[in-house]
Amino acid sequence: MKRNTIILGALLSAAAATAAPEYVNIATPNTSLILMTDSAAAPALLYYGPAVADPVQAALAAPENRRTDAYPVFGNYPEGESALSLTMPDGNMTLVLEQKGSPRVTSEAGGATVTSIPLVDRHYPVEVTLNYRTFPGEDVIETWADITNRGKKPLTLTRFDSAALPFASADAWLTSLYGSWANEARVNTERITPGMKVIQNKDGARNSHTSHGEIMISLDGRPSERSGRVIGAALVYSGNYRLRINSDDRGNSQLFAGINPDESAYRLMPAETFTTPALALTFSDSGMGEVSRRFHRWGRNHHIAHGTEVNPILLNSWEGVYFNIDEPTMAGMMQDIADMGGELFVMDDGWFGRRDSDNSSLGDWEVDRRKLPHGLKWLTDEARKKGVRFGIWIEPEMTNSNSEFYKKHPDWILRAPNRDIVEGRGGTQLVLDLANPKVQDFIFNLVDTMLTNNPEIAYIKWDANAPVMQYGSPYLPADRQSELSIRYHRGLTDVLRRIRAKYPDVAIQACASGGGRANYGLLDYTDEFWVSDNTDALQRLGAQWGTSLFFPAVAMGSHISAVPNHTTYRVVPLKFRCDVAMTGRLGMEIQPRDMSAEDRDFCRKAIAEYKKIRPTVQLGDLYRLVSPFDGKGACSLMYVAPDKSQAVYYWFRTNNDYSAPLATRTPMDGLDPDATYKVTELNAIDLTPLPYEGKTFSGKFLLDNGLEMRSNHDLPWGKKVDYCSRVLLLEKQ
Ligand code: GLA
Repeated sequence: MKRNTIILGALLSAAAATAAPEYVNIATPNTSLILMTDSAAAPALLYYGPAVADPVQAALAAPENRRTDAYPVFGNYPEGESALSLTMPDGNMTLVLEQKGSPRVTSEAGGATVTSIPLVDRHYPVEVTLNYRTFPGEDVIETWADITNRGKKPLTLTRFDSAALPFASADAWLTSLYGSWANEARVNTERITPGMKVIQNKDGARNSHTSHGEIMISLDGRPSERSGRVIGAALVYSGNYRLRINSDDRGNSQLFAGINPDESAYRLMPAETFTTPALALTFSDSGMGEVSRRFHRWGRNHHIAHGTEVNPILLNSWEGVYFNIDEPTMAGMMQDIADMGGELFVMDDGWFGRRDSDNSSLGDWEVDRRKLPHGLKWLTDEARKKGVRFGIWIEPEMTNSNSEFYKKHPDWILRAPNRDIVEGRGGTQLVLDLANPKVQDFIFNLVDTMLTNNPEIAYIKWDANAPVMQYGSPYLPADRQSELSIRYHRGLTDVLRRIRAKYPDVAIQACASGGGRANYGLLDYTDEFWVSDNTDALQRLGAQWGTSLFFPAVAMGSHISAVPNHTTYRVVPLKFRCDVAMTGRLGMEIQPRDMSAEDRDFCRKAIAEYKKIRPTVQLGDLYRLVSPFDGKGACSLMYVAPDKSQAVYYWFRTNNDYSAPLATRTPMDGLDPDATYKVTELNAIDLTPLPYEGKTFSGKFLLDNGLEMRSNHDLPWGKKVDYCSRVLLLEKQ
């Protein structure tokens, strides 16, 4: 990073002879990002942190009196890391940028601004515009770059990060997510050490199973929920990404984030602009919890489709009946979820072609009349009669090698010339070539026809159960093969944008073998994502905790499923399963007919309780209290309504080991200290109520002390269980 560093003092005195540097303060109410601009150089990023009124002070106090390029490019002194690298038509691989004209500031609704700083190469016709959009209500800044070829010949982009961000700390820590199928969103916390830390994805189609394009950087030592300065960064992208943190021996670091450049060289044609995805940044001086809440608000207000509305309580057919779909079963499930107070029934995989297992029929999107002789209309009619809405599963980016579709369109799948095709799920699954506009039209028309013919379809579960398995697009010309990953995601988001424009009210869930599509790149078009195929309630506590670092509950599908669990075979009591599902967008994924009348009744009551707290859970502020990753034998969190009139407190015992520590009491958070709250246990099963049931407490007392959790359920002998969970409703009096 040395290359991008210029001694600020020297620059200030040199500049004093010509024009004084100007400072651009990209400000939200509580944060500032300060750039120094002058006509002789590219802008420097001097500061990102708590709001600063006078940018000169931030400049003078910059670490080690130095400046770092806001958008480092590969050019002179190539030993440093760069955000942008390209090859000019004459083979020149260096860029030397300088500012061309003043920053442009555009005002947007709600007090937001977009500041654009135009840069040009000193010799070549290349323009780079750095953009910063503020979200004052949420203290978030989105930044991205536009790279334009003003020349007459194509040039080749080989690296195209969205942004770079310098930070300095002698004890900086990184919090990131990692995992795999059925083990999504594990939290990793590590000290940032000298050298390069890389977090990346190369799946091609999905991008959040193994790692995430969102991170937090804690500047004051080991991360804490409630204290310390923390930077949050989230890439708004659904495709392959790469995040790099490059650190020197003195605690000076730079974060780079953007589209993964591996095998992705991009030919930029004359007059073409390459717009990077945005990197969303936020900063809190009071820990990770506030970073999460800012991202949640920003997500709900500006990205997540229908993010400011509560999502319905649904029953999904998958774990209940898998591919065994037929009319009486579907109608029965609709009746059962209606009887339990649910609002939506989703028919999952198995309704089309000859889809009796996962090895056929994707692409053959005709209703399987063996299973559903009266077609989709019959199902939407039934749903209406039963008082629930109807949703349907599709996996439109995929086909199977034995499908009719593939026979007709063998050139519409991703494959490389002169290679055997590589097949995925079921031994036959193939990925469509979303770079091809005809494929994009096919997918749009599929959804368009389905929704036009069946206007009562209210929800689509959009799945993607394969990575790109062979790199090659029959559509793209030879010199554009390396653009496949980028063009796939442009194609995907273009199709979703068209669907959204025509069907703004339809809800869409992004699913990808579970949690493969938990990203802000798709949430502009989707209402929620499926967190994980692992529905084991104990495991879900971890997956949902990790996911909550960046995504709000309204976007997190969380379902009550059967026991033994279909992934872990663990037998978790129904109350615990309900309580965990009630921390997210509650749903069910079970065959209700396989449940006892008593269990169905419990779910009916839990759904009724959830409706009381749903706006607070889905649209309120999350406070994480005890992490399931911290070995305290418990997990605890709460949601508080924005006006603090209602809160929901959750406590889960995660370890039934009497020799291990158990956090039974922790101060609450987010409440109004001056208010009085009445405590009511929801989903209560104990023979004797909790000592504080129906009692009132001051907000201050709860914030200072919390409430002691009874860590076993008081149940009759023979009905005692090795799990315990509590959901407390706190209502302002
Ligand atoms: C994926 C999804 C599941 C289910 C199946 C259907 O695995 O994650 O929820 O929809 O596909 O085949």
